[in-house]
Amino acid sequence: MKILVIGSGGREHAIAWKLAQSDKVSKVYCAPGNGGTATESKCENILLKGNEFDGLIDFVKKNEIYMTVVGPEDPLSKGIVDRFNRDGLRIFGPIKDAARLESSKVFAKEVMFSAGIPTAHYREFSNFKDAKNYIEEKGVPIVVKADGLAAGKGVTVARTMDEAIGAIREIFIDNIFGDAGSKVVIEEFLEGEEASFIAITDGETILPFASSQDHKTVFDDDKGPNTGGMGAYSPAPVVSQKVHDITMERVMIPLMKEMRKRGILYKGFIYAGLMIKGEDVKVLEFNCRLGDPETQPLLFRMKSDMFDLLNSAIDVNLKNFNLEWYDEYSVGVVLTSGGYPKEFTKGFVIDGLDRVDSSVKVFHAGTSLKHGSIVTDGGRVLCVTARDRDLKLAISKVYREVAKINFEGCHYRKDIGKKGLRR
Ligand code: AMP
Ligand code: GLY
Repeated sequence: MKILVIGSGGREHAIAWKLAQSDKVSKVYCAPGNGGTATESKCENILLKGNEFDGLIDFVKKNEIYMTVVGPEDPLSKGIVDRFNRDGLRIFGPIKDAARLESSKVFAKEVMFSAGIPTAHYREFSNFKDAKNYIEEKGVPIVVKADGLAAGKGVTVARTMDEAIGAIREIFIDNIFGDAGSKVVIEEFLEGEEASFIAITDGETILPFASSQDHKTVFDDDKGPNTGGMGAYSPAPVVSQKVHDITMERVMIPLMKEMRKRGILYKGFIYAGLMIKGEDVKVLEFNCRLGDPETQPLLFRMKSDMFDLLNSAIDVNLKNFNLEWYDEYSVGVVLTSGGYPKEFTKGFVIDGLDRVDSSVKVFHAGTSLKHGSIVTDGGRVLCVTARDRDLKLAISKVYREVAKINFEGCHYRKDIGKKGLRR
């Protein structure tokens, strides 16, 4: 069977790689893919982006693609699944109305409140003056979130009054997010440790993935500005069995019930960003897709066939699916271009990829294949991923291989997984 994967990040390389492992998959096309999917066995890039719905549909029909899998949120929030469904094409991901859980923070908060899902207290505002009054009344720390998709830049955790007012000024007066900033959510600051709780649902059954934890800031010890994610590992000890059970009972199952009550069939991956303090679990956000970089270590330890998994989900048959994981720790370290998440230069040749041990997987993100060489082509460049029987061994293995890779300006965090060792 031929599959089409939409997206170009590390997550999409991992999805394409994992699908290509299946005996039932003969070919994985990636639109547009990256340097990793260009060189992965059974994989091939095509020159189409995720928002070119007509072109993608045309490609799928002409090439008899069996199933399409959508990686990023942008095409989902623009209704790619609805478009494919209308043409009778098999695609995996939530429809536009369901994807609003990620594309509108106001909608997500409203759903959480009506479903009784634990989350920070909040108010919603659509003008500067009222938002400012509220911030002055509540004081700092406080969290300001632009309503719409803002490529991960829409959230300000304000520690000072200046930062908080600055954030709403940028949104309402400078209009930096355009329509995505026509409303804001202002919410209570939560303390604790974050984890990613990812699951797959066919609308009836919800199957949780193994737990994972991302590292959002650019520097060690959670310092510096937030990025798309600098590394992740799985399982994450902060998600104890108790925390897992609480999350299923109070978050994931009520969420599915609430969506059904609203007449919205949620079929796809669902990702809850959690703040955990002891056994107190609160939801920071929902994403309607897999996490990046969580997907890289997660799929590297998934034992089940991903083609079968997605097929079962599309056919509303997850209740009969036995999702299995290797009983090992998996750690992914992201290598970035120097300067990321601010300005950076691309086009540097990446050296050392051929020296990496074959038991370790290098997932590509911002790379491309130019004249036979792999060159940097984005902020997050690679995610080197290793597995071992305990977390400490997995961490030393991954860093041993990371050290073999180099390109001009290469940066990575040295403490991925360290939080898990403390437990
Ligand atoms: P979000 O996109 O809503 O997950 O926010 C991005 C990041 O901001 C999260 O991963 C947290 O680190 C932080 N954050 C969001 N909401 C809160 C909150 N209510 N309290 C503390 N930190 C938060
Ligand atoms: N790793 C965070 C995200 O995918 O949103």
